[in-house]
Amino acid sequence: MTRSKLNYDQIAAQYNQRYPDSQNWERGQALLALARQVKAQTILEVGSGTGFWLNLLDQTGAKLFGLDYSMGMIRHAKGQPAPLSLTHGLGTRLPYLSSAFDLVYCVDAIHHFGDHRAFIAEAFRLLKPGGALAIIGHDPHEGGSNWYIYDYFDHVYDTDLKRYPAGSSVLQWMEQEGFHKIDSKAAEHIRNIHVGEAVLTDPFLKHNATSQLALLNEADYRAGLERIHQALTEAKEKNERIVFSSEIDVRMILGFKP
Ligand SMILES: C[S@@+](CC[C@H](N)C(=O)[O-])C[C@H]1O[C@@H](n2cnc3c(N)ncnc32)[C@H](O)[C@@H]1O
Repeated sequence: MTRSKLNYDQIAAQYNQRYPDSQNWERGQALLALARQVKAQTILEVGSGTGFWLNLLDQTGAKLFGLDYSMGMIRHAKGQPAPLSLTHGLGTRLPYLSSAFDLVYCVDAIHHFGDHRAFIAEAFRLLKPGGALAIIGHDPHEGGSNWYIYDYFDHVYDTDLKRYPAGSSVLQWMEQEGFHKIDSKAAEHIRNIHVGEAVLTDPFLKHNATSQLALLNEADYRAGLERIHQALTEAKEKNERIVFSSEIDVRMILGFKP
C-alpha cells in the first residue's frame, strides 16, 4: 500500500461539517466541567484544528490558546467568535513558558503527533501545579467501537492500530512523566446509523473528511467504495437492507500535575 500524505490544509474548509449545531457534545461538556474543576484561567488545545472546542470553552472566561500544524486549520480557527491566540507548531515541541496553563488538552489529535510521549512530557512542563491534562479520542486498541469504514476499506484499521497509542500506554507514560490522579473515563459514545443507500450520503465517507480515508491512495479508496456499492447491490437482489454502523467510544484520559 502507498499511503497518501495527510494534508489538513485541504480538509480545513469542510472540516466543521462534522459539528452540526444541533448536537450537545458530551466531550465538550466533559472539557467544560474539567476547566471549571481546575478553575482554569489559561487553556491550551494542542492540535486545535478549526478551534471548535476552544470556542466552546470561551464561556469559562479563560484565555484560550491553540496550536496546530496546519495553517489552513489555523486560518479557519481565526473565524471563531471567541478570541483565540493561535500558534503554528508541532505537538511535540510546544513554544510556551513552563507552568503557564491550568488546562492542556487535545481532541482527536494525539495520533498525529508521532512521538506521543514527548507531547505528554511537554504538557507536564506547561501545566501549573494542580493543572490538568486531558487526552480525548477513540482508541482502536479497545473494543467498544464498530465503524463500517474499518470493514470496507483495506488497511484502515491496521494503520489506526499503528498510529493511535493504546490507552494503557498513555496511562503509563502519564504516570512516568509525574502526573497523579490519572484516570480514563468514557467521554462520549458516537452513534450514527445509515441504512442501505443512505450510507452514500455519510459525510465521513468522503475521501478527505477523516484522516482514516485521507491517508488512503486513490486506488484503495475507490476499491473500498466499490465494495460498499457491491454490498448494496447484493443486498438489493436479496431484498435486504444493510445497516452501516458508526459507533465509536470516545474516552478522556486525564491526569493532574501535583
Ligand atoms: C482530527 S483534527 C482535530 C482538530 C480538533 N482538535 C477537533 O477536535 O476538531 C487533528 C488536528 O491535528 C493537527 N495536527 C496534525 N499533526 C500535528 C502535529 N504534529 N502537531 C500539532 N497538530 C497537528 C491537524 O492539523 C488537525 O488540525
